[in-house]
Amino acid sequence: MNELHIQGNKIDLRYAQESDLEDYFAFLQDSEMNTLTGSQSEFTRDQIATWIRKISVVSEERADFIIFEKGTNVLLGEVVLNEIDPINRSANIRIGIQGNEHRGKGYGTEAMILMLQYGFETLKLHRIHLGVYAFNPRAIHVYEKIGFKREGIERDALYLDDTFHDMIKMAMLEDEFRRRYGAQGEDHHHQ
Ligand SMILES: CC(C)(COP(=O)(O)OP(=O)(O)OC[C@H]1O[C@@H](n2cnc3c(N)ncnc32)[C@H](O)[C@@H]1OP(=O)(O)O)[C@@H](O)C(=O)NCCC(=O)NCCS
Repeated sequence: MNELHIQGNKIDLRYAQESDLEDYFAFLQDSEMNTLTGSQSEFTRDQIATWIRKISVVSEERADFIIFEKGTNVLLGEVVLNEIDPINRSANIRIGIQGNEHRGKGYGTEAMILMLQYGFETLKLHRIHLGVYAFNPRAIHVYEKIGFKREGIERDALYLDDTFHDMIKMAMLEDEFRRRYGAQGEDHHHQ
C-alpha cells in the first residue's frame, strides 16, 4: 500500500498538499464540526498554510489523511492518527466530516475503518483510542458500530456554553480489529 494514498469505495484518503489550502481552510470553518470535536481555536490562513506543510510530510508521531469523495474529489474532511507511541504501539484517532450534506452518507464509517486498517496493519499498532463528547450521539453510534469499546469517562473534560461536558473514552485493540475485519482488513464494510 502506498503510505500516502489509500483508496476506499466511496472515498479516497491522501496526505495534504499545498494546493489543498483553500478547501482545508473552508473545512475548518464548519462550526458544528468544531463544536463536536471540541476545537475552540481560530486559525489564520497563514497558520493553516504552516500546518499543511507540517502534516504533508511523513512523521513518526502522526498520520493526517484528508478525506476526498471518490469521483468528485470534494474535500470531505480528515481522519488523523496522532499521539503515536512506538513503545506501547498505541495512537489516538480523530475524524471530522464537514458539511451537513456530507454527513450520514457512510463516509465517516468508511474513513475510520480504512484508518484503523492503516494503523493496525501498516503502522503495526496494538491499540487505537479516541475521546468523544457525551453530546455527540452520532459519533458514539458510529464508533460502537465499528467495534470500539467504551473504557471510561473523563468527567467535565470540556467547558462549552457555560457547562462542563464529559468525554467518553473508547479504544480498539489489534486482535479485535482482525477478528472483525480480517487480517488484511479486507472486509471494510462489516457492520
Ligand atoms: C461523526 C462522523 C465522523 C460520522 O461520520 P458520518 O459520515 O456522518 O457517519 P456515517 O454516515 O458513516 O454513519 C452515521 C451513523 O450514525 C447514525 N446516526 C445519525 N445521527 C444519529 C444520532 N443523533 N444518534 C445516533 N445515531 C445517529 C446513522 O443512522 C448512521 O448509523 P448506521 O450506519 O448504523 O445507519 C461525522 O458525522 C462528523 O464528522 N461529524 C462532525 C464532527 C464529529 O462529530 N467528529 C467526531 C468527534 S469525536
